[in-house]
Amino acid sequence: MTTAYQGLLHRYRDRLPVVDGMRIITLCEGNTPLIPLLNIPRELGKDVTMYVKFEGLNPTGSFKDRGMTMAVTQAVHEGSRAIICASTGNTSASAAAYAARAGIRSFVLIPEGKIAMGKLAQAMMHGAIVIQIQGNFDDGMRLVKEVATKAPVTIVNSINPYRIQGQKTASFEIVEALGRAPDYHCIPVGNAGNITAHWLGYRECANGGALPVMAGYQAAGAAPFISGQMVDQPETVATAIRIGHPQSWDAAWDASRASNGWFAAHDDATILATQKLLASKEGIFCEPASAISVAGAIADIRSGRSRAGSTIVCTVTGHGLKDPDTAIASNTAPVLKVPAALDDVRRASVEPL
Ligand code: F0G
Repeated sequence: MTTAYQGLLHRYRDRLPVVDGMRIITLCEGNTPLIPLLNIPRELGKDVTMYVKFEGLNPTGSFKDRGMTMAVTQAVHEGSRAIICASTGNTSASAAAYAARAGIRSFVLIPEGKIAMGKLAQAMMHGAIVIQIQGNFDDGMRLVKEVATKAPVTIVNSINPYRIQGQKTASFEIVEALGRAPDYHCIPVGNAGNITAHWLGYRECANGGALPVMAGYQAAGAAPFISGQMVDQPETVATAIRIGHPQSWDAAWDASRASNGWFAAHDDATILATQKLLASKEGIFCEPASAISVAGAIADIRSGRSRAGSTIVCTVTGHGLKDPDTAIASNTAPVLKVPAALDDVRRASVEPL
């Protein structure tokens, strides 16, 4: 028997809806590192311990794989031959990969022109039927629900409860790594499945210990949890969370209220500046939507909303390589271009020092 890590469904079999005889569809997802931040907290000059749970290191580069292994395993177990989702990009990449692994079809509805190129490439490479709609994620979600009532396909958006089950395992890993729950858990919020899943996970593994305060962050142009009402035309550079009608509305409010947490919004400039900060100060390259958890944590540490002496975990949801276009466009430092000659390279590289 191998002792190698075999993915979430093996590792947490007793805490997930895994039943005997299931064919487990896995890419060995999960088991992502909890990386302590070094330079950002020092520069903040506050007494806090900050960690990043780097979910961008999952097989398809985002946290979605945690839920997808469970949802696709269940779909196959039920005899489903096809899955469908609406997506801002990461869910579609993950669905396509797990469907490929399972040998079933995947259909993905994505908002035309509003998903990062890496994510589109993934869905295409994994053989999904890619349907770009002239609308946003919320339109896609509505259509997917309609299609699923008429065709034999399983929805693998986070309205599928098996997705939430899989995603809750991130909390298990954090508690195992720290020996307890953090004081604050900072997380980006789009469709609100992930905050819901984390809160469920913490409650299940708390063992009577303290639970974290859940702090959810949204992009200012797509912030229904801050305005308290749905947003019809969400807009943000963080395309992954360009969502105005979150499906897990009630569950996310429950997580926030029951944990004495809060929601806050940050604008696109702050999101991009924090993405750059993480990359340039900590060596962690995430996509824009992911940086908002760290942006939010920093703002709340500065303002004193997060207590001194606390331990803060930020979920960094997706890898920066998903969206090179935004990264390159938001960097002002020029890339030098010189002839392929020693003198020119020396002048270019040594002189600025
Ligand atoms: N961060 C990234 C990188 C995401 O892709 C998403 C959601 C979120 C955060 C927000 O998580 O929806 O559970 O609140 N992406 C979905 C998708 C909507 O289609 O890929 P959430």
